[in-house]
Amino acid sequence: LGQAANFLYMLFGKEPDADDAKTLDVDFVLHAEHGSNASSFAARVAASTLADLQCAIVSAIGTLKGPSHGGAAEAVMTMTNEIGKPENAAAYIEDRLARKERIMGFGHRVYKAEDPRARHLRERAHDLGIRRGHPEWFEILQEVEKVMSRYQNRGIYVNVDFYAGAIYQLLGIPEDLYVPIFAMGRVPGWVLQAVEQYKNNELLRPLTWYTGPMDVPFVPMDKR
Ligand code: COA
Repeated sequence: LGQAANFLYMLFGKEPDADDAKTLDVDFVLHAEHGSNASSFAARVAASTLADLQCAIVSAIGTLKGPSHGGAAEAVMTMTNEIGKPENAAAYIEDRLARKERIMGFGHRVYKAEDPRARHLRERAHDLGIRRGHPEWFEILQEVEKVMSRYQNRGIYVNVDFYAGAIYQLLGIPEDLYVPIFAMGRVPGWVLQAVEQYKNNELLRPLTWYTGPMDVPFVPMDKR
């Protein structure tokens, strides 16, 4: 079996449907490498100290976990489950925006137009939802996209993780495996960037610029 099919086989104990395996394969390919994203940069920082490749990958995994990066797919699915029905989506999103909360699966540090990877997962989430008898998740996500379309003039569009969570849920993958699955997809990118770093290394050690108060008198602990 290919890597995606074999992973599903190991996870569920039976050979996966060819379309399911293809969908996960597309997901892995879309996540494989993405320039100087936070986790790949973390891998480079670790490699730049000449820590071994395993340590570079561990640094990347820790950095991937946050909801501003690889944790977004899980957060999108939590949001979708809280919304529950397509007709609840608009009010739910408006309420979160009114409270100045971020909508997971939208926005990107680099893309100020639609993340080109999202399109491939959108189609697959739609087809998978119909095949699995759960078209409502895709409908909820479509409603969320509709409400968020007014943020497009600020460069906030869907990103790759918006549909990834729906795909994992429809495949029957438990939520706590979403970040590890992203990690499986991103490993090629982390490895190649770490190897590139080793080949032409320079210690990555930025300076930070202190802007706080200066010449502050020392106050003993018991007087604070
Ligand atoms: N929902 C609502 N508002 C958002 C937003 C989102 N998902 N993403 C950005 N914004 C708003 C911010 O609130 C901010 O508004 P302000 O100027 O009024 O304060 C403005 O857009 C710029 O935000 P900033 O964090 O500086 O932009 P960024 O380019 O650094 O953001 C992310 C990139 C990914 C951190 C951000 O879009 C985000 O938190 N997205 C949600 C998490 C996510 O999906 N991550 C996966 C990325 S692949």
